[in-house]
Amino acid sequence: MDIENDVLQEAKEAAEKAEDSRALYEAKMQFLGRSGKVTALMKRMKDLAQEMRPAFGKQVNALRERLEGFFAEIEARMKEREMEKKLAAERVDVTMPGRRHGKGTLHPVTRVKNELIDVFAGMGFEVFEGPEIENEYYNFTALNTPADHPARDMQDTFYLTDEFLLRTQTSAGQIRLMEKKKPPIKMLSPGRVFRSDDDATHSPMFHQMEGLVVDKGVTLCDLQGMLDEFARTMFSETSKTRLRPSYFPFTEPSVEVDVSCHACGGKGCSLCKGTGWIEVLGAGMVNRRVLENCGVDPDVYTGFAFGMGIERIAMLKYGVNNIKLLTENDVRFLEQFKD
Ligand code: DAH
Repeated sequence: MDIENDVLQEAKEAAEKAEDSRALYEAKMQFLGRSGKVTALMKRMKDLAQEMRPAFGKQVNALRERLEGFFAEIEARMKEREMEKKLAAERVDVTMPGRRHGKGTLHPVTRVKNELIDVFAGMGFEVFEGPEIENEYYNFTALNTPADHPARDMQDTFYLTDEFLLRTQTSAGQIRLMEKKKPPIKMLSPGRVFRSDDDATHSPMFHQMEGLVVDKGVTLCDLQGMLDEFARTMFSETSKTRLRPSYFPFTEPSVEVDVSCHACGGKGCSLCKGTGWIEVLGAGMVNRRVLENCGVDPDVYTGFAFGMGIERIAMLKYGVNNIKLLTENDVRFLEQFKD
């Protein structure tokens, strides 16, 4: 009997039936495992006559080698086939368009706020942020707006208690800073303010940017020079400013600042209502009473201050006609402000 060929034939049949590497491994173990056929043959050696043993042993070893070679080859082929199958199943179409994640954008109010900070930081201003909940003293009294002053009616205020309120203006920050820091001062104070006001151009919450400069010999000319720089950066290279007399309790003299219309270059259009000018902010020389309230000697120091609505600047700059668009957070609107 040719054991070698018989066993080999048996192994081939078993291997053919194996459908995957695992089944093939089990088939292999039936022959080459510790309790497989080859081991069983080896065990039969002791039943043989002494002189038959070497030849038998050789034959079994040859069989083992052939089986090992056979299984190694068939395993390699099986692995290759399995890999091909796996690759076919996990095939990636590299020509398909990728899935993109939408890139966010800065809100136009944030964007304008950052631009304003850049302009004034370039002129040496430092940012100081005051609290949103203020008391009457910082929001009104110290700003030369006593309890019976009509300006308190001008700004419809959200009172939290008799004493505390949501600040109606970032001007309150002027007092807080001057109490802490002696001149020279160059401060920029951005932040949210609150007023009981609601229409297409007014919102109960909006943002202001306050500016304050206090030093020896500061004049209204310094104010206009800095505002010209602001207008050129924010609106157009050729923008100019114009000061008109006005009234604020905390400044004397007080001015309204107009910027030449960037839409028509000053000729007159619907944006500037035919005047060539657009009102953008309030300003003035800091009232000596305000300086005194903060312990700054008005005979030694002078200063100017200004305050603007950031939403208003954003609306003018981007041609937005309803302030509500800035708080509705409709991404179709906001996406237009991508870089
Ligand atoms: N606080 C004023 C307002 O809310 C704006 C303002 C005007 C601020 C004149 C100033 C200023 O600092 O000097 O309407």
